[in-house]
Amino acid sequence: MIIKVILLISFLAVGIIPAAVGATPIDALATTLAPDFSLDADLSIGGCSLNKVSPPLNYTSPKLDGPSPGLSLKYVALGRGTQNYTCSKAASNVVPTSIGAVATLFDASCLAACRPDILNAMPAVLVQIPDDAAAAAGDVSGILLADHYFADNSTPTFDFRPYGHPDWIQAKRLQGVPAPANSIPGSVPWLKLGYKAGSGIKEVYRVFTAGGNPPANCENQTSTLEVDYAAQYWFYG
Ligand SMILES: *[C@@H]1O[C@H](CO)[C@@H](O)[C@H](O)[C@H]1NC(C)=O
Ligand SMILES: *[C@@H]1O[C@H](CO)[C@@H](O)[C@H](O)[C@H]1NC(C)=O
Ligand SMILES: *[C@@H]1O[C@H](CO)[C@@H](O)[C@H](O)[C@H]1NC(C)=O
Repeated sequence: MIIKVILLISFLAVGIIPAAVGATPIDALATTLAPDFSLDADLSIGGCSLNKVSPPLNYTSPKLDGPSPGLSLKYVALGRGTQNYTCSKAASNVVPTSIGAVATLFDASCLAACRPDILNAMPAVLVQIPDDAAAAAGDVSGILLADHYFADNSTPTFDFRPYGHPDWIQAKRLQGVPAPANSIPGSVPWLKLGYKAGSGIKEVYRVFTAGGNPPANCENQTSTLEVDYAAQYWFYG
């Protein structure tokens, strides 16, 4: 289990993906985390019980509503991908239009269970790792959990089936609140999503977002924009 942590963190932190990564935050995280990881010899990233875990909804104002009664927490994930937008014209009086997101989700249940401090710090780190390198690191570490994409412009979809779980959901937005002021600039809102279609999942939270917001307007922009982001996702079913 410890191998998984070391692998992932070494990919993320110590620069197996060297040139592409801005050194400062990654190095800072490596320095911060290294002693903790050698102390927590049992700590893994994925595969832990979520019995005693609840989502970090107390960081925003207003807060998102808690999960509906009767649901239980099934997965906690870290997601890394892009929020996509279009610009109909490269002009300052045109604003980018969202056309959805594409992301890879990693099992983060052990961080949620044992080290929420690290879990909460991870999106701001992950967003600085190239998208494909993060997915590759997750693959090597065996913690790929789900694919996230949009079935249409208003239908966020999460599919766990490619990774050996039966669950999937086509969701709809129920609530959104601004990311806290200390998030990295341009971070997409925190969301609560509800059920449209699927199996095994009824509600989804996107919290601790990092990045993903488009430029304020389309001046000098290309017709399609992909804005890097990362976030925690919490799934109830
Ligand atoms: C939110 O709650 C957690 C767990 O009780 C606590 O550790 C954290 O400090 C709280 N954060 C804020 C911003 O209130
Ligand atoms: C969004 O961007 C991703 C790259 O992250 C790309 O693979 C995907 O096709 C794009 N999706 C849409 C709907 O534009
Ligand atoms: C758009 O490009 C023009 C010409 O290069 C430049 O003068 C202007 O500052 C740019 N605007 C923005 C918002 O970057």
